[in-house]
Amino acid sequence: MNGTNNRLQEYDLSLKNLLGLNDSKYILLNTNLEQVTTGSCPHGGIHSAGPHIVKIDFSSSVNPLGVSRSAVTKLKKCLGTLSCNYPDPECADFKENLIRYLDGRISIDQINVGNGATEIIHNFARSFVKKAVIIPSPTFCEYELASRRVGAKAKFVPLSDWEIDPDAILDSAKNIDAIFLCNPNNPTGILSNRSIYKILERSNDSTKILVDESFMELTDDPKAHLSLIDKVSEFPNMVILRSLTKSHGLAGLRLGYSISHPRTARQLSMHRIAWNVNGLAQVAGIIALNDTQHLRRAKNFIRKERKFMFQEIQRRLKSFSTIRSDVNFYLIDLHRGNSLKLRDYLLRWKGILVRDCSTFRGLRKNFIRVAIRNHHENVALLRSLESIDH
Ligand SMILES: Cc1ncc(COP(=O)(O)O)c(C=O)c1O
Repeated sequence: MNGTNNRLQEYDLSLKNLLGLNDSKYILLNTNLEQVTTGSCPHGGIHSAGPHIVKIDFSSSVNPLGVSRSAVTKLKKCLGTLSCNYPDPECADFKENLIRYLDGRISIDQINVGNGATEIIHNFARSFVKKAVIIPSPTFCEYELASRRVGAKAKFVPLSDWEIDPDAILDSAKNIDAIFLCNPNNPTGILSNRSIYKILERSNDSTKILVDESFMELTDDPKAHLSLIDKVSEFPNMVILRSLTKSHGLAGLRLGYSISHPRTARQLSMHRIAWNVNGLAQVAGIIALNDTQHLRRAKNFIRKERKFMFQEIQRRLKSFSTIRSDVNFYLIDLHRGNSLKLRDYLLRWKGILVRDCSTFRGLRKNFIRVAIRNHHENVALLRSLESIDH
């Protein structure tokens, strides 16, 4: 542990000497929690660091197999329609395909489609949040940003043993408009199915509950896509959120959707702008939903590679340990190491970008989050960590 610290400090000093930088400039492109009050919040991805220096991006947690080949083929064929056709503002074909994907368990008036799940998070806040919300911590930062933008206060409830704490949330849930629940949670990658059900059952009907399942389809459960879908009529205050950005590798096109009671869906749609989802995203989304084999392959691949990485980190590295995970990303505990320094070191010397978690509210400065990538890239990460593990 100390070894890693010392080694990183050495790198830190030698880099500073080498580059003649002072402390503030040395930190590459760092983001921090203050941004939440200034209009954005910290994310990973190549643009958080500078695309020209990133060779392997472990900071974005998308499907490691990427977009399905059939979606790419279809997209190429559609390029000719770009200039003449406006996209369908209602995303009708996409919705029909989504209903089939969800085994016909929902109706069209329960669906909202968004320019990524992020758009729906902000529309949810505009529709249902006025004064106060509950947000577990650590979790995805857009819930806080969306709530603050509409002038609401956020009560943060810490996770318990890395899982959503239903009793603590229910105890704090007085006079609040909404609860944000991320399942599996970002950045921990852990499912809290039972806790979420308990919160849904016991919370007040007037409290809206956003269950963000953006990563649900990348968990091991073969029926994950059905998750809480059958519970929508039982809990009209619940909004289930999904993202094809993650599960189907459509990060660049942006596509997400929500499922809720028709009345809730109607309220949610009031804030949607016309043509919010571009035509190519709609086409790719339809193909992606139908390519269930691609998703199945990705899930198997993730399970295998996650097992490999967990075993190898435990076997080969002394200064790093993993936190359990149910999905395609996981936390690495650096113990006494500093996540920002490690990120900057890996980026500058190896071209590897990991998510420094010091910008997650409620997480100490000694965690990084890494995505599962292809085997060769996962091995490159292991070797890079090994090179500073003493
Ligand atoms: C939990 C969670 N929800 C939603 C999103 C945003 O998804 P999208 O890219 O579909 O806007 C992210 C992105 O990282 C996320 O981590």
